[in-house]
Amino acid sequence: MSVAAAELGTTATTSATSSPAFDPKEVTVIFVLGGPGAGKGTQCARLVQHHGFVHLSAGDLLRAEQQREGSQFGAMIKEYITEGKIVPMEVTIKLLENAMRAAMSSEAGEAKEAGANGGVKGIPARRFLIDGFPRQMDQAVKFDETVCPSSLVLFLVCPEPILLERLLERGKTSGRDDDNAESIKKRFQTFVNTSMPVVDYYRKQAKVVDIDSSKSIEEVYADIEKGIAPVLRA
Ligand code: C5P
Ligand code: MG
Repeated sequence: MSVAAAELGTTATTSATSSPAFDPKEVTVIFVLGGPGAGKGTQCARLVQHHGFVHLSAGDLLRAEQQREGSQFGAMIKEYITEGKIVPMEVTIKLLENAMRAAMSSEAGEAKEAGANGGVKGIPARRFLIDGFPRQMDQAVKFDETVCPSSLVLFLVCPEPILLERLLERGKTSGRDDDNAESIKKRFQTFVNTSMPVVDYYRKQAKVVDIDSSKSIEEVYADIEKGIAPVLRA
């Protein structure tokens, strides 16, 4: 077990020999990928409203950990995020696993009242949207092995000039350390060089549904509904 995992309150699930922590027959995981500004968070919020998913954004979890008082990773996370680099996977996977476990052990209805997901009261959360993860091949392999293999990958495709425009607009109010021209450039590079191989990897497994996310929020959402229908029926 790594120091990072120990600090984040690990269980035994990340040891080399274990099977995934969650059974994909009982838990549905959809990865939501796409460049920065592609609309991952926006579309996930809609899916939560309509289908009772639990939405876990890797970036949001990292930002929360960065701000958590006493976190030994705060400074490191801030540096990675500002540089548009991928935070070492032990930290991100453990944050995700902890959040999944917390959602599974609370009743979805209670979580809904707390604004965390759109579940049905009394039914344990079992559908997860994992947003902005995996962003690097090692994260993909490790998560599939130790947490839960995904059922589907929604890939939001959008040309870079549109992404840039959206991020600069968001940067006026987001307060994020990385919604500025310099960080955005680095995030685009990381996306192309480091994150696209993950999409290609899942494409070979026939798990990827491509969504044109340059369109309006409503149009994109309608395409997503069609794309996820087979998984929701399962
Ligand atoms: O998804 P989001 O744009 O919120 O991610 C912000 C930053 O968080 C990324 O640019 C990266 O530095 C970090 N991150 C990461 N690993 C992930 C997701 C996000 O290192 N899987
Ligand atoms: Mg986001």
